[in-house]
Amino acid sequence: MAADAEDDLASPHAQLRWAADWAATYLAHAADYPVLSRSRPGDLSTVLPAAAPERGEPMSAILDDVDRLIIPGITHWNHPGFLAYFANTGSPPGVVAELITAALNVNGMLWRTSPAATELEERSLDWLRQMLGLAADWRGVITDTASMSSLLALAAARERAVPDLRRRGLAGRADLAPLVVYASEQAHSSIDKACLMLGLGLDNLRKVAVDADFQMRPDDLAAAIVADRKAGRLPMAVVATVGTTSTTSIDPVPMIAAIARREGLWLHVDAAYGGAAAVDLERRGVLDGVDQADSLVVNPHKWLLVPMDCSALYLRDPERLKAAFSLIPEYLRTPEADSVTNYMDWGVQLGRRFRALKLWMVLRAYGREGLAAVIREHCRLALLLAGWIDAEPRWERLAPVPFSTVVFRHRPVALGDDEAALEAHNARIMDIVNQSGEVFLSHTKLGERYALRVAIGNAGTGEDTIARCWALLRAAAAADSGESGASPRI
Ligand SMILES: Cc1ncc(COP(=O)(O)O)c(C=O)c1O
Repeated sequence: MAADAEDDLASPHAQLRWAADWAATYLAHAADYPVLSRSRPGDLSTVLPAAAPERGEPMSAILDDVDRLIIPGITHWNHPGFLAYFANTGSPPGVVAELITAALNVNGMLWRTSPAATELEERSLDWLRQMLGLAADWRGVITDTASMSSLLALAAARERAVPDLRRRGLAGRADLAPLVVYASEQAHSSIDKACLMLGLGLDNLRKVAVDADFQMRPDDLAAAIVADRKAGRLPMAVVATVGTTSTTSIDPVPMIAAIARREGLWLHVDAAYGGAAAVDLERRGVLDGVDQADSLVVNPHKWLLVPMDCSALYLRDPERLKAAFSLIPEYLRTPEADSVTNYMDWGVQLGRRFRALKLWMVLRAYGREGLAAVIREHCRLALLLAGWIDAEPRWERLAPVPFSTVVFRHRPVALGDDEAALEAHNARIMDIVNQSGEVFLSHTKLGERYALRVAIGNAGTGEDTIARCWALLRAAAAADSGESGASPRI
């Protein structure tokens, strides 16, 4: 939509009304855009002035450029056909909260720099804990992403493993064996990054083997810990995943927890995507064993309708995290420090966005049952698609479907077991489907096998979207394998 004449948008009121109207119209019509941006590299860079503006410009001109220049370069995560990666939803209550957050422009580093920001963070995280059916002794902190949450959790684990770490660090210490972290082969790359950042080294991240359903093998975990101890290394932490990125597999957390406890290791559970499913009472079991862990991450910005970004990190003993990070210069000392939470003590950053407002508003607007209804529907749609795939001899499902993500590929007879040819064929199918602008899929690799993924996570996605996606996939597969009269490519 075009902004009105310059004069009409001169006042902040007019601008904000325009923005509110714009956002409401956008949310109602996200499906009208091609879901995957059709921009080519450099399209925006070449039209943006290279020189920084010397003088201010009218807001009407700037807002016009949002539609004219920016929107064509947007891939629409709020489009119902967004089925790539882990799809998400910027729900209207969350969008409203983001506007209010920006207007307040609060920095919640200390309790006194906005008491409501801190206390709302504590309470909304406790509501989320209740909704997930977790024990009452978890304490939470909001971070930007699961990558940051897992980094903080493993920093707390490192603090516990090496008590004089703060003073002496890790480097050049003859008294300290290499610290080892364990995660499955299917764990998210954020765990690798945390090991990089914490100075542990990728060689000290053990990728434990998975079974045929892509779940960590507890026996292999136990054996790896024994082998590392024998070799003089110091096992530090285990990361179990509930909802792995490629296939959404669920590691056997109760068994992993028993091993971690026996061995005295920190257990971190990465439930960034899958943890959300526990808001549905019938799916509570996905978090079985998590109450035995030391830390847990669940991302409300993935599958709980909260706009980017909002990650919930829970800890059994937040003192460990504070021991790792709390550092208070004089100008940040406050007399109430002992009786309140100062969230600057819980992580790397000092300044903190007021993310709790959107979490609180979304949890209130939907309630546990409202969120569970969305998750139930997404899981139903995923099983529907899995059933269609299973019914077709030339399509192959490559993993179970515990949540709302389906992983599969097309296998024309002519290609046999030629993995390279199957990869090229399925990659072309994905390209053809993505070029439609109606749906957007992404891929993964399971060993040598290239796989397509349909990840359902947008509240607007319905049965019609999934049926259309399936029709597009079948048409693309037929076209690329030369069936149905299309020009043969294989
Ligand atoms: C299981 C899992 N953990 C962590 C992450 C990282 O999430 P974030 O983008 O919030 O850092 C992802 C991303 O999809 C994920 O799937």
